[in-house]
Amino acid sequence: MSINREVLNAEIQRLKKEKGAVILAHNYQIPDIQNVADYLGDSLELSRISAKLVEKLIIFCGVKFMAETAKILSPQKRIILPVLEAGCPLADTIEPEEVEELKKKHPGAWVVSYVNTAASVKALSDVCCTSSNAIQVVRGIPAKKVIFVPDKNLGWWVKKNVPEKEIIVWQGFCYVHEQFTLKDLEEAKKNFPEAEVLAHPECRSEILEKADYVVSTAGMLKRAKESGAKVFIIGTEEALVYRLQKENPQKEFYSLGTARTCINMKKTTLNELHRALSHEIYEIELDEQIIKQAKTALERMVEYI
Ligand code: 13P
Ligand code: SF4
Repeated sequence: MSINREVLNAEIQRLKKEKGAVILAHNYQIPDIQNVADYLGDSLELSRISAKLVEKLIIFCGVKFMAETAKILSPQKRIILPVLEAGCPLADTIEPEEVEELKKKHPGAWVVSYVNTAASVKALSDVCCTSSNAIQVVRGIPAKKVIFVPDKNLGWWVKKNVPEKEIIVWQGFCYVHEQFTLKDLEEAKKNFPEAEVLAHPECRSEILEKADYVVSTAGMLKRAKESGAKVFIIGTEEALVYRLQKENPQKEFYSLGTARTCINMKKTTLNELHRALSHEIYEIELDEQIIKQAKTALERMVEYI
C-alpha cells in the first residue's frame, strides 16, 4: 500500500468515527473505495441499508440516482454524494416532462420506472422496479397497459417475459452495457465453451436471448456462489468482475468482450471520499413533495413481488 493511500485510509477512518458516518459503496466503485466501505452492494440494497442504519450521516459512493433513492427512503438522514457530476447517463435519458407526455398519450397505463431514474421521474411513476424484480412487478400490477422507462433492453426482456400485457418501452440505454456485442459473446463462448454466461438486463437484447442467466449485479454474485460451473462470462461493468473473482478465488471470471467501464462510477477516489467526509459535501436535497410521491412508488414495488 502506498504511503498516500495508507494516510488517506487512516484519515477517512478517523473522520468517519469522529462524525458518526457510514460509507456505502456500489459494486461498480473502484477497489480502493470498495475496500474502505462499510457496506458494498447493488443500488437498492444500499438504499435499504441506509434506511436501517442508526447513523445519520451517510456517504454514498455511487451515482446520483442511487444517493437520491437513499434520501427518498430515509429523508431524515443526511446523504452525501462525494462527486456531484457522478450521474447516470441512462437515468438522464428521460425527463419528467417526457413522462407527463407519455401519460397523456396513454391514459390508464401504469408507469413502471426502473430504479435508474431521477427522483422527479420516480415521483411521476405508479411503481418502481429493479433489474431483478422488473418482470414480477410488471406481471403483478393490475394494469394491462404499461409504460416502462427508461431502459430499452430491460424493457425488451420484460416484454418477452410478460407477453400478456401491452408494454410501451422508452428507448433509453446504458452506454456501458450497450458496448457488449453478440460477436463478443460468440468469441467468448468459443474461448470458454464450458462457461456459464451471466448477463445484466441492460445488455443488448441479442445477448439477453443467448445468456444462461439474465441477472442484476446482486443476482450475479449469488449465482456465481451457487453454481457448479467453474468458469463464467460476465456481461456487466468491470468492477463486478473484480468482486466476483475476489469472492470466488477457486472459479474464473471473464468479461464478455473488452472490460467496460462506467466512467461516472470511477470518479469517486479516496481523495474525493476524504473531501466529502471532511466538508460533508455534496448533500442530496430533494423537494418534500417529490420525496413523498417517489417513496410511494418505491414502496409499492414490494407489494407486487
Ligand atoms: P444494480 O441495480 O444491479 O446495482 O445496477 C445498477 C446499475 O447501474 C447497472 O448498470
Ligand atoms: Fe448508469 Fe450504466 Fe453506469 Fe449503471 S453502468 S450507473 S446504468 S451508466
